[in-house]
Amino acid sequence: MKIVDLRSDTVTKPSPEMWEVVKSLDNTKIGDDVEREDPTVNELEDKAAKIVGKEAALFVTSGTQGNLVSLLSQTTPGDEIMVEELSHIYGHEVGSAARIGGLMICTYSSNKAMPNLDELQELIRDKEDIHEPPTTLLCAEDTHNFHGGTIIKPEDLYKMKEFAGKNDLKFYLDGARLFNASVALNRPASDFTQHVDSVMFCLSKGLSCPVGSIVAGSYDFIEKARKYRKMLGGGMRQAGVIACFGLIALEPKWIKRLEEDHKNAKFLAEGLKNLEFSIKVQQPETNIFWVDFPLKIPMDKLMVELYKNGIKTFNFNHRIRFVTHYGINEDDIKFTIATIGKVLVKFL
Ligand SMILES: Cc1ncc(COP(=O)(O)O)c(C=O)c1O
Repeated sequence: MKIVDLRSDTVTKPSPEMWEVVKSLDNTKIGDDVEREDPTVNELEDKAAKIVGKEAALFVTSGTQGNLVSLLSQTTPGDEIMVEELSHIYGHEVGSAARIGGLMICTYSSNKAMPNLDELQELIRDKEDIHEPPTTLLCAEDTHNFHGGTIIKPEDLYKMKEFAGKNDLKFYLDGARLFNASVALNRPASDFTQHVDSVMFCLSKGLSCPVGSIVAGSYDFIEKARKYRKMLGGGMRQAGVIACFGLIALEPKWIKRLEEDHKNAKFLAEGLKNLEFSIKVQQPETNIFWVDFPLKIPMDKLMVELYKNGIKTFNFNHRIRFVTHYGINEDDIKFTIATIGKVLVKFL
């Protein structure tokens, strides 16, 4: 049976070009990356640093590891960090900032990822007050996963940077899907990253590598991050065998491919709106969007029924998240719209 998997862009598999690159590897192209002797990893890190306009970059095992090494490298245990209330760092990284980093977390609310800076100001701790922990790091997420792939524009990142500077904070970007934002606004990734001290982006997800993320920032920051990566077990020795996928992923042509995912997301959202059921469909900005279902629908039963009919998605309470990605084409979207229409009739 045909299965269309719209749960996440983490389910993507490598492209044929990526497999060609793996086949072209030999022992001259790999080495011990803990000793910085893997030429493929070094090439990937150099290429990644250039694309985001930073001094240096580091290949890490995952977005989660990238976020953690970045937090550890820019804080001291006991510091307070500011994170958006629906951010991946806050809700989906097993509390590592607190457990491993010893960090206090201050959550801020936002309008689809962008905070109100006056409200944010109220949350900054008073440095002069002996009772309070120091606030030292501001974090943002662009695009924002749980808000539905929403974009913080470079101009807004600039405002956040100004805010951070004024309050003596470092500014960190969880840019797991940075290139979705960049492609959607037709702006280079460096337009976004010029405003942050450090950034993480994922090579997996829409860029469709099987493994890996990149952390980028100043030389000093990357030296610290390298040490923390080792501490967390992320020193991977002959890692060129997985880093090579990233060399293809960071080619302009492959980054531009994300446009297809955005087009498919819009096509799907439009199709679902046209079904004329009482569902509320978010207008996609990139490759992710949410659909709200009426409270009377038993979501567990709906999810089972969708799955039985070939649609895999992710739900949270009465909402379903749809994520388009490499491997999903226009026919899959047509199939999804028709199947959801067929299934929903039984519930409404
Ligand atoms: C915004 C964001 N940050 C970080 C991550 C973590 O990435 P990984 O799954 O590679 O650990 C994700 C994963 O979905 C994410 O959506």
